[in-house]
Amino acid sequence: MKTKTLYFTRFKIAAYAALIALALTGTLSCQRGVEPEPEPTAEGETLSEIYAPYFRIGAAVAGGEYGYDTFRANDNAEAVIAEFSSLTAENAMKAGVIHPTANSWNYAAADKIVSWATARDIGVRGHALVWHQQTGTWMFTDGGTQEEKKAFARANMKAHIEAMLARYGSRVEWWDVVNEAISDSSTGSIYRTDSPWYQAYGDATFIRDAFAFARAANPDVKLYYNDYSMVSAGKRARTIQMIDELDLVRDGLIDGVGMQSHWQIDSPSTSEIQSAIDDFSALGIDVQITELDIVCSSAELPLLAARYAEIFRVLRDNSDKISSVTLWGVADDHTWLTDFHGFTNYPLLWDANFEPKDAYRAVTEF
Ligand code: G3I
Repeated sequence: MKTKTLYFTRFKIAAYAALIALALTGTLSCQRGVEPEPEPTAEGETLSEIYAPYFRIGAAVAGGEYGYDTFRANDNAEAVIAEFSSLTAENAMKAGVIHPTANSWNYAAADKIVSWATARDIGVRGHALVWHQQTGTWMFTDGGTQEEKKAFARANMKAHIEAMLARYGSRVEWWDVVNEAISDSSTGSIYRTDSPWYQAYGDATFIRDAFAFARAANPDVKLYYNDYSMVSAGKRARTIQMIDELDLVRDGLIDGVGMQSHWQIDSPSTSEIQSAIDDFSALGIDVQITELDIVCSSAELPLLAARYAEIFRVLRDNSDKISSVTLWGVADDHTWLTDFHGFTNYPLLWDANFEPKDAYRAVTEF
């Protein structure tokens, strides 16, 4: 009996010692700032499970607008879409699609995306409240003075933003409030002055109005400025100048920048990506990768996986600055790149039959 008790006591002491050692090791590694090694990817883990320690992983989807519904594109589509932790409306929430005339709304496609996602606790990104494209011409008037043109457009913008924020409330957690308002040129205005919004206002203050209207409509949702070529130092500098001169950070009107990230097999470099993340993060705001895809011909397809591996390594290394990474599409059956470039593109993680590609494995096995 005595021996047994002694044995049990020694065992308890050893067990407690082991627990204390474990706790100390865990604490020490956190104190050293050394992130514990991420768990090895368990067989069958989804994208969102694998990326939960890093950031939301998302995809652009269609809810039937323009005759394409991602959810019905393949028998496997819903299972694939369910791998993501965030969805962006590719076209369904654009003003010209959802609010084509002053008194008409096409909510069905956007409602489908929001309902499907929120029923599965998947976040939704709203895209985009104010853009120079896919916007109903009814929002502007050619008549009158500059002030009258501005007043007309401003009232329509305010009504549109208030209606969108009211309908979707906090079910849409992040909004691309203004999309692509910065000039691609290093000469002249830093703004896209041919935008109908710029033309109506006569200046860029429509950008500040859009953020102010959205913030007032729902202070709980996160507001982003979204644009492409943010890895270009010049365009990035112009974007930062805009944020500064419109006092968007100072007045608490902006929460982050969306870097669209329509990239190529061989560019931008990882250092260019890092510089962009650093420059925007230095403003004290969030960074989101909002429209990632990679121009990829059939000849380039063997190079795609390594490119995604390289990009996602940089993104994971910056997960303290990045809250979300969204691919601009789910599978290769539907990508804007094919029409835009005039050749069939294979830019995404699943193939046209919604089967995972080597690119998917490059992003999930690391
Ligand atoms: O599907 C119809 C087809 O049936 C019809 O015959 C044809 C006639 O034009 O239109 C087809 O719909 C097209 C739709 O893409 C297909 O998904 C629309 O015309 C076309 O306007 C639409 O283009 C969208 C584009 O924005 C509009 O500028 C793309 O889907 C969409 O991926 C793209 O996304 C933008 C982001 O919003 C902002 N950043 C750049 C990105 C790429 O341009």
